[in-house]
Amino acid sequence: MPVHEVKHPLIRHKLGLMRRSDISTKNFRELAQEVAALLTYEATQDFVLEKHTIEGWAGPVEVERLSGKKVTIVPILRAGMGMLEGVLTLIPGARVSVVGQVRNEETLEASTYLEKLVGELDQRLAMIVDPMLATGGSLISTIDLLKKAGSTEIRALVLVAAPEGIQKVQEAHPDVSIYTASIDERLNEKGYILPGLGDAGDKIFGTK
Ligand code: PRP
Ligand code: URA
Repeated sequence: MPVHEVKHPLIRHKLGLMRRSDISTKNFRELAQEVAALLTYEATQDFVLEKHTIEGWAGPVEVERLSGKKVTIVPILRAGMGMLEGVLTLIPGARVSVVGQVRNEETLEASTYLEKLVGELDQRLAMIVDPMLATGGSLISTIDLLKKAGSTEIRALVLVAAPEGIQKVQEAHPDVSIYTASIDERLNEKGYILPGLGDAGDKIFGTK
């Protein structure tokens, strides 16, 4: 599946603001949700519609409504929570499945500490949200567990992605499409994305 680097001017502007080292927690949070909403708009372009007739102000009128799979949004804790509201702004009826992953900062391996999934995953499109796709470990582990639980259609929305992580995810799960606001240059020796955003979880939660 292709990687979609969404180059909308609003996304590029907002991401530029997020990269500033002196950004406040408030601004970082707001921008993360706004970019998440814009990525959602892109990632839902192929949603299926059906026609039906409603009673309008001047009589019956044919309108369209969504008719494809229902959605579950899957924020990867913690930092994925920083995108959840943005996605819900556009898909307010979506169910939310929460997955907790933490990356060991020495080995860079991801480990799962929470898994609270909605039912009937086979009948839902799963939209994973996490600001950072670095080595790809957290995303791969989340896709693994969603597939084990029955998911057959999965998309990932990330604010910033490293080429190394994209490659790993594509090798492990070629059927999953990735939507990102930027494919950055590379990872540094500590597994952080350059130029990146720094530690997105810390910036969203105000820790450190
Ligand atoms: C960050 C980020 C991703 C992960 C990306 O989370 O939000 O989940 O690292 O790195 P990877 O692609 O190398 O796995 P972190 O583990 O720092 O936890 P947090 O969200 O609780 O801050
Ligand atoms: N996690 C982050 O928050 N930032 C990175 O650059 C890599 C992993």
